[in-house]
Amino acid sequence: MTQPLILDGNLAAAALLEKAQNEMAALNFKPHLHVIRIGDDPASVSYTKLKARRAKKIGLDSTLTELPADTSESTLLELIQKLNNDPNTHGLLVQLPFPKGSSIREPVILEAIHPNKDVDGLHVVNTGRLWAGQMGLRSCTPAGIISMLDYYRIALEGKRVVIINRSQLVGKPLAAMCLERNATVTIAHSRTKDLAGVAREADVLVTAVGRVGFITPDFVKAGAVVIDVSVNRIMLNGEEKLVGDCTPEVVAISSAITPVPGGVGPMTVSHLLYNTVLAAKIQNGL
Ligand code: GUN
Repeated sequence: MTQPLILDGNLAAAALLEKAQNEMAALNFKPHLHVIRIGDDPASVSYTKLKARRAKKIGLDSTLTELPADTSESTLLELIQKLNNDPNTHGLLVQLPFPKGSSIREPVILEAIHPNKDVDGLHVVNTGRLWAGQMGLRSCTPAGIISMLDYYRIALEGKRVVIINRSQLVGKPLAAMCLERNATVTIAHSRTKDLAGVAREADVLVTAVGRVGFITPDFVKAGAVVIDVSVNRIMLNGEEKLVGDCTPEVVAISSAITPVPGGVGPMTVSHLLYNTVLAAKIQNGL
């Protein structure tokens, strides 16, 4: 069999950023992304800093507000209202999850963000727009996966897509986006019977399980495209290393596969920046 194609997220993300920058060049103002983080979970600290830094790097304005772990829901809601009403804030994102023991309710916060500033695409209005096939702000990881497939000209029409993840952040919105591309979509999860057998039916297998070594060759049809969304932190020889769900043997039987790191991750951040430009255009009637 021929060597699998390694789907380089940095290359595909650069193309998406170029599109964002071209659209930004047509504006007579700088879109502004505001990122809020509660607490200091190390993964959330690194993601939020990365988001704010990347925004600046492509010429957006960005602000990172870091609040203590014991911040109350009402304090956070007040800040969100202020930013919803601020015409100079175009994108607003509250990093998830909230710290353990926090009294802040995730659905309350996600619904408080104005749908046209919801660059995470997680507000029910944006979820509804997605399922209705309407224009709107779309969830970054699934939209990033679609951009990656587009970049590598991997068509979904008529393909069997199996997504092992049923979350609001990944599985459900990705299913809607694949359906829109005329794929036949299955969402599988921890209660799916014969999960490996279901996964083996996939022409395109998406895994976001979050368990190292979970996807073995037993889950993959020869020649399938494999999208590994998970970023698992492991210690190897005293150093932290990022790995996905797939064992190294999966690479050899796939026709194309995303590496971890350097696969889906860069696409998610780039889509967030693209969404910030799109949000600024929507708010200005463009
Ligand atoms: N935590 C992990 N991924 C995400 C994301 O895409 N958006 C937000 N807000 N929090 C996250």
